[in-house]
Amino acid sequence: MAASSFPFNAEALLVQSLTDYAIYMLDPEGHILSWNPGGQRIKGYTDAEVIGHHFSQFYTEDDVRRGEPQRGLATARSEGRFEAEGWRVRKDGSQFRANIVIDPIWQDGELMGFVKVTKDVTERFKAQTRLQEAERTLAQSQKIHAIGQLTLGIAHDFNNVLAVVTASLDLIARTSSEERRQQLVDAAQKAAHRGSMLSRQMLAFARGQNLSPANLDVNELIRASIEVYRRAAGAIATCTLDLVDGDPVAYVDGARFEAALMNLVANARDAMTAQGSIVIATRVVQPADGVHPDLQPGRRYLYITVTDDGPGMGEEVRLRAMEPFFTTKDVGRGSGLGLSQVFGFASQSGGFASIHSEPGAGTRVTIAVPVVE
Ligand SMILES: Nc1ncnc2c1ncn2[C@@H]1O[C@H](COP(=O)(O)OP(=O)(O)OP(=O)(O)O)[C@@H](O)[C@H]1O
Ligand SMILES: [Mg+2]
Repeated sequence: MAASSFPFNAEALLVQSLTDYAIYMLDPEGHILSWNPGGQRIKGYTDAEVIGHHFSQFYTEDDVRRGEPQRGLATARSEGRFEAEGWRVRKDGSQFRANIVIDPIWQDGELMGFVKVTKDVTERFKAQTRLQEAERTLAQSQKIHAIGQLTLGIAHDFNNVLAVVTASLDLIARTSSEERRQQLVDAAQKAAHRGSMLSRQMLAFARGQNLSPANLDVNELIRASIEVYRRAAGAIATCTLDLVDGDPVAYVDGARFEAALMNLVANARDAMTAQGSIVIATRVVQPADGVHPDLQPGRRYLYITVTDDGPGMGEEVRLRAMEPFFTTKDVGRGSGLGLSQVFGFASQSGGFASIHSEPGAGTRVTIAVPVVE
């Protein structure tokens, strides 16, 4: 069967004029029967160079070894269509990101061949990758920003630690009582221990050890950075934990998770006008269908909530709070990106985020991510 035996001239014209798509026909074994200018533009071969050849020449060596070309044809044949995205090879050996569709052509119950459509999606793929990188960098720089804000409090804390250590050493030098000496040594050791805990936690937080998703024990992640959240809560708010038993696991990016919690704690602190409390809690929940449009029915979710007893939000603020750049704070005090980072983190982790808040009744922000069973 040759391409010209197909009885559609208008269609042939259309196929010839499409240059963003490589559209060509294959015989039942996968040999190329026709070629269009899009194929030449994307892959670099003229029709004389490819017609009669096997279409696996466009695949990478690895894909050929894995039997990808045959798998595409077999799936198209048995299921009526094959769709995939992957790397393909041009004539000059360079690679491009391809979105491909293979459709079988049947005539009177006999397989005549296949139509294959390839679209070059390299630009889109690169843009997506760049976006993901930018988001990572943003999460990381938000954390560094937070660390900057914390520095003052930490310096104060380290001063206290050092004051205890130096005072103890001074007194040890002067005392003659063995019992008193022992007490002073204990006090100095405790203070030094506290200092080293503090610096370890700060370092772990600033480094953001996990920069890509992994199966993580979320309770452990929260416990490991509680000192940092306490410090972010500042003098105006206490920050306590209420973590579910069983240490559930979720597939999340640890650094972005910590940045999200940090944003929530900072928001609660910023909202407080009088002494208040912030509670970070985790719960495993099987939400009712329809609770959220992005809910995957039947799955269990880990709810991470940050609840404060601050002034809460009015309806119009609550509805817009997750919008990027929405802020009610003065210039320089808020960029309006905190909650949109929380929202982005939750949805990119396969979950969702929501805000419950009423004026005078405090605020609860929930991050829900699927539990890894
Ligand atoms: N816990 C809260 N209590 C009361 N209002 C809140 C709370 N959290 C957020 N908001 C409101 O939602 C707005 C948006 O919050 P978001 O974290 O996105 O930005 P921001 O805190 O203003 O700035 P940024 O976090 O970028 O420094 C806040 O300006 C505030 O009005
Ligand atoms: Mg904020």
